[in-house]
This record gives sequence, structure tokens and C-alpha cells, in this order.
Amino acid sequence: MNDRIEAVRQKALADLSAAGDPKTLEETQVRYLGRKGEVSALLRGVSSLPVEERPEAGKRANALKQELAKAFEDAKKRLEQSLGKKTAEGIDVTLPGRRPVLGRLHPLTRVMEEICEAFIRLGFSVAEGPEVEADYYNFEALNFPPEHPARDMQDTFFISEKVVLRTHTSPLQVRTMEKTSPPVRIIAPGKVYRCDSDITHTPMFQQVEGLVVDEGIRFSDLKGVLASFVQQVFDPGTPLRFRPSFSPFTEPSAEVDIGCVMCKGEGCRVCGQTGWLEILGAGMVHPAVFENVGYDTQKYTGFAFGLGVERIAMLKYGIDDIRRFYENDARFLGQF
Ligand code: PHE
Repeated sequence: MNDRIEAVRQKALADLSAAGDPKTLEETQVRYLGRKGEVSALLRGVSSLPVEERPEAGKRANALKQELAKAFEDAKKRLEQSLGKKTAEGIDVTLPGRRPVLGRLHPLTRVMEEICEAFIRLGFSVAEGPEVEADYYNFEALNFPPEHPARDMQDTFFISEKVVLRTHTSPLQVRTMEKTSPPVRIIAPGKVYRCDSDITHTPMFQQVEGLVVDEGIRFSDLKGVLASFVQQVFDPGTPLRFRPSFSPFTEPSAEVDIGCVMCKGEGCRVCGQTGWLEILGAGMVHPAVFENVGYDTQKYTGFAFGLGVERIAMLKYGIDDIRRFYENDARFLGQF
């Protein structure tokens, strides 16, 4: 009997140390210490021994049962610790933590900030105004005649007959000049609205308007400011050119192109093989606008320009559909 007990002991301890996971350990324990286990069988076997052998054998079998019970408990604890297992609530503290998703600025916010900073460095200050705007500020004071096509329902969202969603941030020219006398040097960033939607137009988009008024301001000042802006926001050395254009509140007026950022002027699909990309409208402030705000047209001259933030961002990042900016697709936005 002693030999059998020792044999079971050896085997049990060997199996126990071979059990590398909680489930196997549990099964091993049941195999030895369960009701139908080997140790229980030993204990039952004691009663079939000759009477004089029973006390000794019973003592040994019981000692083995206790030894193994403790050995299994210890092994379980060790296994749990080495698996780093579990507080009382069953939380596995060894799992890697969940990383918080880091937010970032929307690409348009970044480009808007970059554009504003370029002008702030040149001494401009920032002016802001309402998006729901009086017809007077959006059109009339800017020398748009009543029948001007920009006033057509096709382009303008009307709130009422005399109130619109501003179609540009140029109203800030008038609002600023009404409040201050020259010198004026402002930019007006903000949202504008036009009834238009395709791959290069969204009904809401963002503009930065610029206005400089003082004695002796000339077209060459406009050119210098815009050249500096282009050098700051696009690659240094990017060329720009002025093409004659029309705007009711500037005379002369120009559209400004930069050398194509994709092909560097060679001609490609993006620039329609011309090597140039239009980025903004500009011109010398029309005397009629000065008259509307009571500025002396003999004394003061000025220039104004207006650019589209989405357009600049599309060119900077090579994006071919403006609507991407407003779809809130994190896979797109996460690239910037
Ligand atoms: N406000 C004009 C537009 O939105 C752009 C512009 C601004 C043109 C200033 C000339 C001078 O199209």
C-alpha cells in the first residue's frame, strides 16, 4: 500500500507540474482529488486492508490528500500570477491599454490659419462680420448695380428681399471702412454661401478677403503683398501673374494665377495644359466704394483681394474634389 501511495504521489506531482494552463490544472486536480479520483480510490482501498495495516495506511493516504490539495492550490496561484491574472473583478490588467484616438485640426482649419498667419506677419489685422448680411453690405455698397447677375437667385441665398447669406467676405471692406479712417490693413476670413455644388464648388465655402487703404497705395503694393503671400504658402519661387478681369468694386481688376504646383508650369491635367492656376481675384478699390463710406477719393487709394480657402487647400494637397473636405470621412481627414 505504501508503494501505491508513493506511486500516486509521484505521478500526481509530475502531472501537476506539467499542467501549464488553468484548465489542465483543474482537470488534473479532479483526476486525483475528485470524488472518483485516484486519491479517493486509495482512501477507499484502506478499508479493504488487514486491520493492523489500516491506521498507518489511512494516515498516509490522508497526508497525501492534504499535501496534494495544498500543492494544487499553490500551483493555481502561481499560474494565475504568471498569467498576470485578474483582480477580484476579473479584469485582466495585463492587456495592453486602449489608445485614445488623437484628434487633429481639419485640413481647412490648418490652411485657413496658415493663410491668415502669412498676412498677419505682413501687418494685417483680422476683421470679422455676420454671415447673414444686408444686401447693402454684400452688394449695394460694393458698387453692384441692382441688375448685376451676382444678385440672381442662381448664386445667392436670399433670407428676404434685402437680406442674404453673404456671397463673399467683401462686406467687411465696407463695414471696416465705415468704422475706421485710413490707414486700413485688414483681412476678413470666414464662411460664405453660394447656390452651387459640383467637384469644385460647395454651397458653403471659406474666403479670406484683404483690404489696404492709405495715401499713395499702388497696384505694385498689391503685387508685392500677394507675391509675399504666395512665397509663404506655396513653395518659395512659385511664380505669379495678373490677368485683367472685372469686379464691380475694384478698378482695374485682375485674376491672379500661380505657376501650376503639380507640373511646375510644364502643362498638365490639373492646370488644363496652361501651366497656370487661378488662385484669387484682386484689384484697386473702386472710387464708388470709397464714396459710399465717406473716404476722400482724391486723397486715398487702396487695393483689395479675395481668395478661396478650399481652392488653396486643394492645390496645396493635390485634392481633386472639394466635397472631400465636408464629408467627414476620418480616413481622408486623418491624412493631414
Ligand atoms: N469678392 C470677390 C469674389 O468673391 C473676390 C474679390 C475680392 C475680387 C476683392 C476683387 C477684390 O469673387
